[in-house]
Amino acid sequence: MQQPTETLPATPEGLSRAAAILRAGGLVAFPTETVYGLGAHARDDRAVARIFEAKGRPRFNPLIVHLPDVAAVRKIAVMSDAAERLADAFWPGPMTLVLPVAPDAGLSPLVTAGLDTVAVRVPEHPVAQNLLRVFGGPVAAPSANPSGRVSPTRADHVRDGLSGRIEAVVNGGACPVGVESTIIGLAGRPALLRPGGLPVEAVEACLGAPLGAAGEGISAPGQLASHYAPGAPVRLDVSAPGADEFWIGFGPGTGDAPMTLSATGDLVEAAANLFHALREADIRAAGRTIAIAPIPEHGLGRAINDRLRRAAAPRP
Ligand code: TXA
Ligand code: MG
Repeated sequence: MQQPTETLPATPEGLSRAAAILRAGGLVAFPTETVYGLGAHARDDRAVARIFEAKGRPRFNPLIVHLPDVAAVRKIAVMSDAAERLADAFWPGPMTLVLPVAPDAGLSPLVTAGLDTVAVRVPEHPVAQNLLRVFGGPVAAPSANPSGRVSPTRADHVRDGLSGRIEAVVNGGACPVGVESTIIGLAGRPALLRPGGLPVEAVEACLGAPLGAAGEGISAPGQLASHYAPGAPVRLDVSAPGADEFWIGFGPGTGDAPMTLSATGDLVEAAANLFHALREADIRAAGRTIAIAPIPEHGLGRAINDRLRRAAAPRP
């Protein structure tokens, strides 16, 4: 498809237009509290197929289904006791659960990539909530970026990557969390499939047990080595950058850096800034290596470091 991508306001009129586009099988990017999602009607094979086409994404990668509340989730996934407990504690919010798919879920098989599990999420962002309610059905949505690129946290980022390839983007401003949802696998023993916007410590406290690691068999979420990549090379854990490097700081000790994820060393602020900072640095570095200050490996720091390690991984 090559047609102008509409930017819709997050007003009742904008959202009813967005819902109409989804019903007609079109693609609409919309804000969640984590990142912008690229939404399609999850029961419409053609619409879901167009997500893969627009993103240039490998087909075997299954998608997250977005729903307005737990009652809607129960219609498409089988909720265990652990799932109910996590849902009660953290939905709506930046958490995705991988659960056995319900027998009569009615999803396009492209959504689950033929697996007998489905990833489900109840986002908290008011624009996502309102869109899901106005649309009234399950919305399949990966992050709204071309495959392998940095996730979008502003409507402009979506336009940069997908303009002309999707029908519309709903402009809801900057995403407050800024990294993707934490994905918990609950189809077997509870496992962390992807660190994200909900700290792992909070999930483990709620379950009263440590999470396992992703099993080898699981098609690991976004886990291709070089995944969240800017164009410039990236070097991590840099306290003293080289003269020819573009330094991104974190915390008061890095006040000399031309850019910072958080001047005060606040991990929540750093997560919210992360993807925007990588895009901006990519431009300002002008081909030089992007060097990034050390980020502590706890709370949201785990998700930030996970994304940064992917950004720094050797390119395919
Ligand atoms: O914050 C987020 O999670 C955003 C917003 C839009 O919700 N979405 C997002 O989607 O990051 P995406 O497609 O970029 O990443 C979702 C990951 C994929 O890498 C996929 O492999 C994994 O979830 N996934 C989906 N269904 C799965 C399943 N049944 N089993 C294991 N992993 C699954
Ligand atoms: Mg993604």
